[in-house]
Amino acid sequence: MSFAKRIETLKNQIESAQATTAEEAEEFRIKYLGSKGVFKSLFVDFKQVTSEEKRLFGKTLNLLKTKAESKVSQWKAELNTHQKPDANVDLTRPGMLNEPGAKHPISIIKDEIIDIFHAIGFSVAEGPEIEDDWHNFSALNFPPEHPARDMQDTFFIKDPNGGEDFVLRTHTSSVQVRTMETQKPPIRIIAPGRVFRNEAVSARSHCIFHQIEGLYIDKGVTFADMKQTLEYFANAFFGKSKIRLRPSYFPFTEPSAEMDVYWGLENELDHRITKGTGWLEVMGCGMVDPAVLESCGIDSETYSGFAFGMGLERSAMQRFQIPDIRMIFENDTRFLKQFQSVI
Ligand code: DAH
Repeated sequence: MSFAKRIETLKNQIESAQATTAEEAEEFRIKYLGSKGVFKSLFVDFKQVTSEEKRLFGKTLNLLKTKAESKVSQWKAELNTHQKPDANVDLTRPGMLNEPGAKHPISIIKDEIIDIFHAIGFSVAEGPEIEDDWHNFSALNFPPEHPARDMQDTFFIKDPNGGEDFVLRTHTSSVQVRTMETQKPPIRIIAPGRVFRNEAVSARSHCIFHQIEGLYIDKGVTFADMKQTLEYFANAFFGKSKIRLRPSYFPFTEPSAEMDVYWGLENELDHRITKGTGWLEVMGCGMVDPAVLESCGIDSETYSGFAFGMGLERSAMQRFQIPDIRMIFENDTRFLKQFQSVI
């Protein structure tokens, strides 16, 4: 075969060559570019051709070799990084739907309230759900055997070794105590969390629910500061500007109050929500009892403050028209995915 013909054949072979596996690429490399390969023998023979032929084919030969080399390196790069597709995998099948998560309705309400208080300098505090008697009751001015303890049906946890019983916290007010014990005033915190009461479960009440506690301690804090703060909250959270404070009783505040917002009575739903009064009961509140400050090591002559606590379930149920409180705890995805997407 003439040299011209050999080059012509080689050109066709190189241009049409394909490799689908790393092994085929290697075979090609050995066949053409190896030490006993096609190029090697062509270059040997090239020395014997006439100078006329050298001029004609020299450049072509070099170009072909470069082309073969770049084909090999391209195949190797591709075939080494891509796993060979599994013959049993049907690449044309539709993908699996990746459903995005949704924020739980309680978290939506909780985060909104945190944002509202964050804007006026409150930060978030936390405490344990399994509490001791001191933090849940005694430091909050519930003396032993005091009837106020019966206001909250408590789940007790017996210590098998006969030590002090623990409780599942009945309110987030325990976090007030933990915060005052560990921080110096000024203190401005809100404490969201789960609480537990030994109550029959029904559509309207549950043995688990959520509260947010608030606490503000500084020099010269007054009842007027509390009212102002709660008015700000009612406005920001409910979009309502009128509140009222009704006298009430909690062992840890003196004086104590219940805060209602004026909801209005414009439609049937307003009547239902406010039981026909136009007022919606929102939270308990009051000036922190000096006995509580002293229990937590804060000088009640120098400092004063206010506290408040509210449940989250009722707000979530109103906002999202959830008819049964049990839905909040069932974690049925058909229920949960109706709320605000997290992405
Ligand atoms: N801890 C009370 C409850 O569970 C709510 C409460 C009322 C919290 C008054 C407070 C407060 O901080 O000042 O019913």
